[in-house]
Amino acid sequence: MSRARTLHRCQECGAVTPRWAGRCPGCEAWGSLVEEVEPVRAAAGRPASIAAPVALADVDGGAGAPSATGIDELDRVLGGGLVRGSVTLVGGEPGVGKSTLLLQTLASLASRGWKCLLVSAEESAQQVRRRAGRLGAVRPGMWLVAETSMPGIRAAVADLAPDVVVVDSVQTVWDPELGSAPGSVAQVRGCAQALTAMAKADGPAVVLVGHVTKDGTLAGPRVLEHVVDTVLTFDGERHHALRLLRSVKHRFGPTGELGLFEMGDAGLKGVPDPSGLFLGDRRQGTPGSVVFPSMEGYRPLLVELQALVCESTLAAPRRSVSGLDASRLALLVAVLQQRAGINCLPSDVYVSAVGGVRVVEPGADLAVALALASARTGVALPPDLVVLGEIGLGGEIRQVAHSSRRLREAARLGFSTAVVPASAPDEPGVRLRRVGSLAEAVATVLGAGQPAGAAGAGRGSSARDGGATRDVGHRGALRAAAGGPPAAAAAAALLD
Ligand code: TYD
Ligand code: MG
Repeated sequence: MSRARTLHRCQECGAVTPRWAGRCPGCEAWGSLVEEVEPVRAAAGRPASIAAPVALADVDGGAGAPSATGIDELDRVLGGGLVRGSVTLVGGEPGVGKSTLLLQTLASLASRGWKCLLVSAEESAQQVRRRAGRLGAVRPGMWLVAETSMPGIRAAVADLAPDVVVVDSVQTVWDPELGSAPGSVAQVRGCAQALTAMAKADGPAVVLVGHVTKDGTLAGPRVLEHVVDTVLTFDGERHHALRLLRSVKHRFGPTGELGLFEMGDAGLKGVPDPSGLFLGDRRQGTPGSVVFPSMEGYRPLLVELQALVCESTLAAPRRSVSGLDASRLALLVAVLQQRAGINCLPSDVYVSAVGGVRVVEPGADLAVALALASARTGVALPPDLVVLGEIGLGGEIRQVAHSSRRLREAARLGFSTAVVPASAPDEPGVRLRRVGSLAEAVATVLGAGQPAGAAGAGRGSSARDGGATRDVGHRGALRAAAGGPPAAAAAAALLD
């Protein structure tokens, strides 16, 4: 057996030094040196077993096909399911629900006849059993070993010969052969490499759980991404039930797919129709509320955006976002003032994406801007309207990718009208209001000064209440910005 040697490699430039330093001697980057273990090679020469080249056409493409896990949202993200002999890393913050997801996945696989092994390196066997009992995830064919050492794990896998092994978590596994302290980057990477070798040699699908902190600094997932075949991230707002599963690297299919789960008393439940979930508590006729057909991976998702604009007592008025990009909000506030005459600059501005999702694509610009305009003027938008478009600094509205898919989803959920960029293609089932500029969009949607109650006639008392407190001075600005025909007519046309 060769002895391992510890060295430090710069994550920026790849320079290697025997001793750790705060600054890389090669590229002078700070804090970029990471401990690594390099086994000393036994002897040079031809290895005992080498792979012979084969014609590409002769390779069996059917082998390595994914097998469904039965957890639909997971299968969607994996492009069909788990591949035997592959290694998947599920990264996420502590407490997001990784252990729960994998326990449920193993139960589902076991009921499909897979022999499943859970290596619990964090929780005791009793803790796992109790949780599994609570989740109704105890099945024949599910095996458990509470083990943290690599030799122990190897022995368990050799004894049981499972079809799938889940290691929870890879940060708490250690290999005495590696020498460095348990939990160090060298240990985590070394163990992941050993587990990957095990997957390739013995053929089980291996799933590794990895904890990441918000800034991704904890030893683990980031340094493992090169080692594994697939990297999934599992995240969600701590105070919301929604959990999002995404693939960021996938050797067996496309990345960018999104799986959605809801965390409840009985564990995680797939959310096949997420738009319904996000729009469930929406109060129609409220100024500042706009529905945006967002895209998460390949999945359209209707999200309500809400804005609140109120008088500020601060020298630098507050700009608060939740689930949106803060610097984009500052830009939209400026463009709204400059190009559409709606001035939120001296006010406190709050904008949020409802339901714990993050909407960061520029395609949401117009929706955010109209939410701000609606909040500022007190005029509610029609309840069956969606808004889509990117805004340039000149106030022009730009095309957004996948507009047909987004609008089809909107139509499916009963939205009949959409404000879209001028170049948007037709979509059956949705009436399009094409707009070239922000000022035109504001005029089309908010009209010319009908109070909220009149604009949304019969659409709820909250709108009418809002009307009573409207900022009349702004109506003038709105009219001036809108130009053109009396926008009351435009608003009526939109609503009829
Ligand atoms: P867990 O799967 O242990 O998270 P991780 O492995 O990512 O650290 O999930 C922990 C959280 O999930 C915990 O705060 C409680 C919550 N939870 C539920 O709300 N319902 C449930 O049925 C279970 C099992 C957990
Ligand atoms: Mg856990």
